[in-house]
Amino acid sequence: MSTLNVQVWRGGKEGSFQRFEVPRHPSQTVLDVVTHIQRALDPTLAYRFACRVGMCGSCAMTVNGKARWTCRTHIDLVQGENREITIAPLRNLPVIRDLVTDMREFFDKWARAKGQFEGTRTRNDDFARVSPESESRKQVDAAIECIGCAVCYSSCDVVAQNPDYLGPAALNRAWTLVKDERDEETMARLRAVAGDAGCHSCHTHMSCTERCPKHISPTAGIAGLKRAVSLAALRGNL
Ligand code: SF4
Ligand code: SF4
Ligand code: FES
Repeated sequence: MSTLNVQVWRGGKEGSFQRFEVPRHPSQTVLDVVTHIQRALDPTLAYRFACRVGMCGSCAMTVNGKARWTCRTHIDLVQGENREITIAPLRNLPVIRDLVTDMREFFDKWARAKGQFEGTRTRNDDFARVSPESESRKQVDAAIECIGCAVCYSSCDVVAQNPDYLGPAALNRAWTLVKDERDEETMARLRAVAGDAGCHSCHTHMSCTERCPKHISPTAGIAGLKRAVSLAALRGNL
């Protein structure tokens, strides 16, 4: 039976890689490999997953140097020479243990970017209808599919240099709400993303867009926010 050489991060911020030999199977994913290690070789290995089908966003890790959703990443795509794979926690987030990162600041930034929907209708009102054909809806068709996996956040150099930067996922979320016809807090949201840690800090490196497993372009959303913030400022609304 053929095997894979797998190096897995163990410990917290300080730690080291531990080597495991894992049986190779057809259609094996990176998450399958991590699960095999935890179930058959070392039950103390900490990692996170839930759905296994690319829906929940909880299984992201750094695989051979790149952030990826591991449940949908096949070994064939990433295995290097000598069947070697290196698996580490996501970058730009504190490591709790092994492959598990602390996601609090990632989601706190969604709140700082006013990532919550603010409508005015009550349960007694009729449903608000948004036409799939409307221009504003078409602009965020892909962006609303974000699963909050933090692959983009982990891949962003600006987050690495400026930990206060809101980052691509929170700004992408803000963009979807700015374009939501039912939302009533556009100006407050534009104010929230206009500061030093907001959309203008993005250097348009595109790493987030290249790496997003859902093929979202946070870079395009951030460019939209920059335009909307500038327009609001010119009109004296900010
Ligand atoms: S485009 Fe902006 S948000 Fe995306 S990775 Fe580059 S600097 Fe970060
Ligand atoms: S924008 Fe893409 S990479 Fe970033 S959190 Fe959402 S799904 Fe993940
Ligand atoms: S386990 Fe849910 S997206 Fe991978």
